[in-house]
Amino acid sequence: MPKENRRILVTSALPYANGPIHLGHLVEYIQTDIWTRYQRLAGHECYYVCADDAHGTPIMLRAENDGVTPEQLIDRIGAEHRADFAEFLVAFDNYHTTHSPENRQYSELIYQRLRDNGHISRRTIKQAFDPQKGIFLPDRYIKGQCPQCGAADQYGDNCEVCGSTYSPTDLINPVSVVSGVTPIERESEHFFFRLKDFEDMLKTWTRGEHLQPEVQNKLQEWFHVGLRDWDISRDAPYFGFQIPDQPDKYFYVWLDAPIGYMASFKNLCDKSDLKFDDFWDPDSSTELYHFIGKDILYFHALFWPAMLDGAGFRKPSAVFAHGFLTVNGHKMSKSRGTFITARTYLDHLNPEYLRYYFAAKLNNRVEDLDLNMEDFVLRVNSDLVGKVVNIASRCAGFISKRFDGYLAAGVHDAELYQTFVDAGAHIAECYQRREYSRGMREIMSLADQANQYIADHKPWEIGKREGQEDLLQEVCSMGLNLFRVLITYLSPVIPATAGKVEAFLDCEIVTAGGWHNVRHPLTGHRVKPYEHLLRRVDNKQVEAMIEASKQTVGTAAEPGPLQAEPIAASIGIDDFNKLDLRIVRITQAERVEGADKLLKLILDLGGEQRTVFAGIKSAYPPEELAGRYTVMVANLAPRKMRFGVSEGMVLAAGPGGKDLWLLSPDDGAQPGMRVK
Ligand code: MSP
Ligand code: ZN
Repeated sequence: MPKENRRILVTSALPYANGPIHLGHLVEYIQTDIWTRYQRLAGHECYYVCADDAHGTPIMLRAENDGVTPEQLIDRIGAEHRADFAEFLVAFDNYHTTHSPENRQYSELIYQRLRDNGHISRRTIKQAFDPQKGIFLPDRYIKGQCPQCGAADQYGDNCEVCGSTYSPTDLINPVSVVSGVTPIERESEHFFFRLKDFEDMLKTWTRGEHLQPEVQNKLQEWFHVGLRDWDISRDAPYFGFQIPDQPDKYFYVWLDAPIGYMASFKNLCDKSDLKFDDFWDPDSSTELYHFIGKDILYFHALFWPAMLDGAGFRKPSAVFAHGFLTVNGHKMSKSRGTFITARTYLDHLNPEYLRYYFAAKLNNRVEDLDLNMEDFVLRVNSDLVGKVVNIASRCAGFISKRFDGYLAAGVHDAELYQTFVDAGAHIAECYQRREYSRGMREIMSLADQANQYIADHKPWEIGKREGQEDLLQEVCSMGLNLFRVLITYLSPVIPATAGKVEAFLDCEIVTAGGWHNVRHPLTGHRVKPYEHLLRRVDNKQVEAMIEASKQTVGTAAEPGPLQAEPIAASIGIDDFNKLDLRIVRITQAERVEGADKLLKLILDLGGEQRTVFAGIKSAYPPEELAGRYTVMVANLAPRKMRFGVSEGMVLAAGPGGKDLWLLSPDDGAQPGMRVK
């Protein structure tokens, strides 16, 4: 049995601030959120912190591409991430950013301690450099022919065709992905973290209970290959923190990223009564857990504990790695419509369906898991709606109509009720050990028993008989009490529904220590009128989501727009001259109720106002549009759309989705100007 009064700090990996949250990410945030909700429900003190991972070359380049500063980019994406997480009911105690004063403070501190303890060395290395762009190129920004098998268009670090790994200098005919020119080699001095200094410590630490068994095996391989120094510096220009006393040198994003866990917690401490040292001192009695994906194990199982150890902080109690999400058996794919962003999902489906589905599939091993859309619909409908919610809807009507909301004074089948209470110990253990799928199976088998109880007693028949009022009340009360136990056990997974059930049953469920409330059934207690809890999923919603995901494609990894969309049939110059293209100023932009992609724009043509509906919502949040300029087709006949009349068309360039560009305000544009 875990000890009582545990104090626990939990993190999920920090998502990069250059792209949207997608269903793959959500495996992790939902897994962690369920765990932290369970801990609180069990009565433990548990904090869940996270942040956006805001530094590095991709973010710097993406911002440049979008014509904004990196700060503007990370602010915008940060706000989107927060909104996505909130709607998926991922309840962080704090969500911060790695581009924060706290993170700078701890990054400098940890670096200085490592340096002063002799764990940082310096040497000059050769690296690929883009002479046009003036930046050193990360491996992923160089493409060329594989030196092993000759396959074209391979990244600088490994070949996706033959699987060999190499360094970018080995590539045949390498080009910079950023500018298209041939990279040159250039020397510069780099700073290295001497991981080998920690070999003994790591060998002992990784053999403990801190890692899953299969991860321990992986680590044996890594030890066998040998621990190498880790390059922790990058040259300017770089979006990150400058290394103290080293102008033009920056911390590599992966140095300050895990320190972001501390920084987010520090930020929380500054807003509350929590004491930072209670959780980070080497001799602290609190617990620290990191939930991560299998792709970032090296950083969390080797570098991070070594950094903490070398800088005089406590090491994690455990690192929990999960596998990757596939959809319908394949890697998520934009063309199949299975690269589904959190936002697109939310536009079509209830987040609790996905939380339940993931819970029903997750275990504590590093296994990939599949979201099979057909199975998803079946599972949610048969388990959540058919088995669980059904219990309440079969009993609640009688209680409110025939007994004025009052439950019976006693428990009709005390033995069955006790079975439900006793099952709690094992279900609790399933949560604690991250064996969610097992926990869900147990809960559903209890739900089967509850439905069987109702089927055996048939309240709808008792209700028709004279003189059996008491029995009717007892049976329906029993059903609702079993329902309450089930919802308590499910509440870490479906907290919003649990909240509605709290209101209906007029009792506390989602509350610190609430897990144990089920020991006492509700008797002689008055419940509120029953309101609908959870609708069935309709296949049509899933289909619409997949369709919408096909439409929001567009990143560097996809085929270019020309390949994706062939050029249309040619038109003569006379046809072209018919278009009256004007520069306009967007004076107002607002969301359109019920439309996923549309914004309603009010445009100033230099004296004339037009209302135009434009499908640019995924590229530009409306708050950012007022004052911007764009080009419109001013003589397009007004069209009646579902949401109103559109008086023209706005032009933007790009492959679609987030990647669409309007004019920027400093292009010398004047409303009404003719475009030639
Ligand atoms: N920024 C780093 C983490 C720094 S932690 C100090 C990063 N970011 S990420 O956005 O790429 O991924 C965030 C988390 O989501 C990682 O744990 C990653 O493994 C997880 N996932 C990203 N795609 C995933 C799937 N398709 N499936 C499951 N998890 C996935 O890595
Ligand atoms: Zn190859």
